Amino acid sequence: LKDAHALLTRQLRRAQISVESLDDATRKWLETVDATYKDFDDDRRMLERSLELSSQELMGANAELRALLSERNEAERRMELLHAERLEAASLLAAGVAHDFNNLLTVIAGSNAAMMKVTAEEDPRYELLGQIAMAANRAAALTRQLLAFSRRQALKPKVIDLNQTIRNLAPIFRSLLGDKIELRSSLDPTLPFVTADPTQIEQVVLNLVINACDAMPKGGRLLVETARASRGEAQLSAGAASTYVRLSVRDTGCGMSAEVKARIFEPFFTTKNTGKGTGLGLSTVYGIVHQSGGSIAVDSETGKGATFRVYLPETKDTAPTITSLTAK
Ligand SMILES: Nc1ncnc2c1ncn2[C@@H]1O[C@H](COP(=O)(O)OP(=O)(O)OP(=O)(O)O)[C@@H](O)[C@H]1O
Ligand SMILES: [Mg+2]
Repeated sequence: LKDAHALLTRQLRRAQISVESLDDATRKWLETVDATYKDFDDDRRMLERSLELSSQELMGANAELRALLSERNEAERRMELLHAERLEAASLLAAGVAHDFNNLLTVIAGSNAAMMKVTAEEDPRYELLGQIAMAANRAAALTRQLLAFSRRQALKPKVIDLNQTIRNLAPIFRSLLGDKIELRSSLDPTLPFVTADPTQIEQVVLNLVINACDAMPKGGRLLVETARASRGEAQLSAGAASTYVRLSVRDTGCGMSAEVKARIFEPFFTTKNTGKGTGLGLSTVYGIVHQSGGSIAVDSETGKGATFRVYLPETKDTAPTITSLTAK
């Protein structure tokens, strides 16, 4: 029994020692785990801090960007206002000049007609009087153009088929373009009608074609195209029509620099020789298009030709009230 007791005691101590060393190992292991966890926690905290910092930086950059954007919008708005003011000033001037001019013309043409009546046709002065009459007629046409530009002439909107307008103008295009410029057209047969003043729309098309022609003195190609377009493409804000008709006039001419492009819609801006250009063509076009609820865009680079795109709101009417200027 004594022996058994001693054996048991020894075994018990041995077990106690192993438990103690196990305890030790466990403690050490736990310490390692704790240390690792602490490291991990430190890392996590650092990561969180840098994340917080970068998100703050991001927010700062975002605010800066937003400020820049609103500044840009403001500048754009001011530019537009300036453009509108200049157009208005030029319009007033044009209207004033046209008015006085018209009065003078009435006197000139009236007196001339009276003189022609009392002059025999075989009298050499008769021919001179005829020339005065012709010049007065031309001056009257110029006055009408000035009045159209000044927009004092009320628009007479009609439902028109733009494709038909272009077809009617084709003979005039051909005589303008001569034989060095190839004319191509691509007219969308499903094109909806538009509501606009037909005389003015013909003016728009003609001005664009004449400019294209001037840009190709050595010849080239002119493409006149019609197609449907969305409001987004027309870059018009909500409230306007939802679908548009696009008229593109593209040439393979000299194109224009960014500086010229920025100014082409300004009244009296021209790069053409004095006597050749008045610089009123595109400002007239701009006025007509905007007054008709549309927009105009240009795409051009020096030496790479130019494309003008005119957007006009589609009308719900299904039949044109007029087919051409000449078919009044
Ligand atoms: N298709 C084009 N290609 C290259 N430049 C063009 C084109 N259309 C217009 N421009 C430039 O825009 C300027 C202004 O055009 P706008 O039609 O207003 O006046 P203009 O043609 O010079 O004069 P006007 O129309 O009175 O004869 C032109 O002088 C020219 O520099
Ligand atoms: Mg022109």
